[in-house]
Amino acid sequence: MSRNIIIAGNWKMNKTSSEAAKLIKEIKEKLPTSENKFIVCPPFTALEKVCELSKESIIEVGAQNCHWEEKGAFTGEISPLMLKEIGVKYVIIGHSERRTYFGETDETVNKRLKAALNYGLTPILCVGESLETREAGNTKTLIKNQITQDLKDISKTDCEKLIIAYEPVWAIGTGKTATAEQAEEICLFIRETLSELYSKDCAEKTHVLYGGSMNEKNAKELLSMPNIDGGLIGGAALKADSITEILKISNNIAK
Ligand code: 13P
Repeated sequence: MSRNIIIAGNWKMNKTSSEAAKLIKEIKEKLPTSENKFIVCPPFTALEKVCELSKESIIEVGAQNCHWEEKGAFTGEISPLMLKEIGVKYVIIGHSERRTYFGETDETVNKRLKAALNYGLTPILCVGESLETREAGNTKTLIKNQITQDLKDISKTDCEKLIIAYEPVWAIGTGKTATAEQAEEICLFIRETLSELYSKDCAEKTHVLYGGSMNEKNAKELLSMPNIDGGLIGGAALKADSITEILKISNNIAK
């Protein structure tokens, strides 16, 4: 079963709308042609501009979160319908920064996932362990719990639409990348968990990405692993040279 590679940039809380426009223009100038998917996830305030500027290019646009209701008294939240209307296609859900700093739980992740899927957005679900969990030898238990709870009552058909990103918390923004073997081991484990929860076929169809200090130097080794179907990239996605180089590297990897 071959899955095309997905290179996704999570810009986090970086780039004003005008800075985002400048970065997209730079990326477009350097963008290689590619059969692979290329997604950028700017902050909410830059989404509409980036959607406009990305038309007629291979760039697709994602948001960094969404609420589970279509509208209502939820001050400060953005609904999946609002994202859909401006041309957003993907949404990151359950990033460790949201789990750590903003009280996101597996229960709220599950609600957001269902809402995103209902509105035809493709969720990029993030899971990953802290350093303490890894050192205590509990990585797989934690990942299995996250996946099981986050996907509660989500159908097999919907599961196949998901992108799951394995992002070990200790590797995010630290310059400390998981080795290709460590990342492969957990991406494979995620697939095995999907196989247990759904079916082997579903596990083979679902994209599993790695995220955590991925850059143009380590991308080849990570992306060459059989169970790593792409990258969710933070810091390096803010540099046009780096992110377009990673896309070029992905073009040369046969899956
Ligand atoms: P860095 O690539 O900056 O480590 O961030 C990874 C990440 O959190 C992507 O969602």
